[in-house]
Amino acid sequence: MEILDYQQEIKELKKANRILHKKLERSESDRIKLEETNRKKECLLRRVIDELKEYQNKLEERSHELEIMLLNLQIMENKMSTLGSMVADVAHEINNPVGFIAGNLTPAKEYIDNLLHLIDLYQQTYPKTSQQIQETIKMIDLEYVREDLPKLISSMKEGTDRISNISNSLRTFSRADTEQKILFNIHEGINSTLLILKHRLQANKIRPAIQVVQYYEELPLVECFPGQLNQVFMNLLANAIDALDESNAGLSFNDIKLNPNQITIQTALTEDKNHVSIRIQDNGVGISADVQQKMFDHLFTTKPVGKGTGLGLSIAYQIIVQKHKGTLEVNSVLEKGSEFIITIPIS
Ligand SMILES: Nc1ncnc2c1ncn2[C@@H]1O[C@H](COP(=O)(O)OP(=O)(O)OP(=O)(O)O)[C@@H](O)[C@H]1O
Ligand SMILES: [Mg+2]
Repeated sequence: MEILDYQQEIKELKKANRILHKKLERSESDRIKLEETNRKKECLLRRVIDELKEYQNKLEERSHELEIMLLNLQIMENKMSTLGSMVADVAHEINNPVGFIAGNLTPAKEYIDNLLHLIDLYQQTYPKTSQQIQETIKMIDLEYVREDLPKLISSMKEGTDRISNISNSLRTFSRADTEQKILFNIHEGINSTLLILKHRLQANKIRPAIQVVQYYEELPLVECFPGQLNQVFMNLLANAIDALDESNAGLSFNDIKLNPNQITIQTALTEDKNHVSIRIQDNGVGISADVQQKMFDHLFTTKPVGKGTGLGLSIAYQIIVQKHKGTLEVNSVLEKGSEFIITIPIS
């Protein structure tokens, strides 16, 4: 081989060596970059893992809270159902003695009338009586007794009527729910609920009594779970009373008297004759669009702690929509009032 050829080969080898060197350099820098990216990715992954762990902890905490809440609800439900049947039993037991009194009042009135008549006869037959009898007539104020006795009896009768009304309403309201739907008079349900809420509707130091206006259309019996429907009426009426009380803030007794707190209850048969509608309307504070979006949510409340739990409407919604295949709608204008409309199929 010629010297020249060798020189050429060396040159080429040197060139190849340089290229190789450069490649080595580049791959070294690539390696460093790769390591850097890996480190970053590892860091990110670790952060994600940490966050996930935190989430997991939070979820576990929440699920624990929910478990406790569920247990409390179950205890409450159990207590309510025990209380419900106890109330129904007590109401039933009250009816018996009240029945004795009411039953005896009619003959008692008859006996009294007879005795008074007998006294009249005596007085007519023996107008001149002894000193002692005349003194006794004066002492017991016979004239007054004669006038007052019938009034006394009729107020006793009114009292027993009222007790048996309350006891019937308690029984209607607290009737334990059956496995299957039964026929129920919706108006009886609403009336018994109103009677139970009477103490909240009556006048107090702050405001006159809440006016309750009822427009009842003639309705057929409705196939439903009566105890649950009564619970819905109770929740909606209690909300209406709260909304009215809230609207009274800053007003005097007289201001409220001029523009009275009012609840209107209206029932009707729908046009297709297959459903009944029950409207419960108040002229309280009204509901903002924002609250309307959330108010059927479980545990959503705008009321202070201890006053509202945020269960009323979510329970009402469940009972009407899921259990009775009906609808529960709301119309409301802020500061004017709200209207809740229940519609349920008759059967
Ligand atoms: N008639 C109404 N007028 C104004 N606001 C209402 C009315 N009914 C419901 N709301 C609003 O909807 C919210 C949710 O009502 P919901 O009955 O579910 O719970 P609550 O009344 O706050 O508490 P709870 O009924 O469990 O004691 C109420 O806090 C209130 O803000
Ligand atoms: Mg409520």
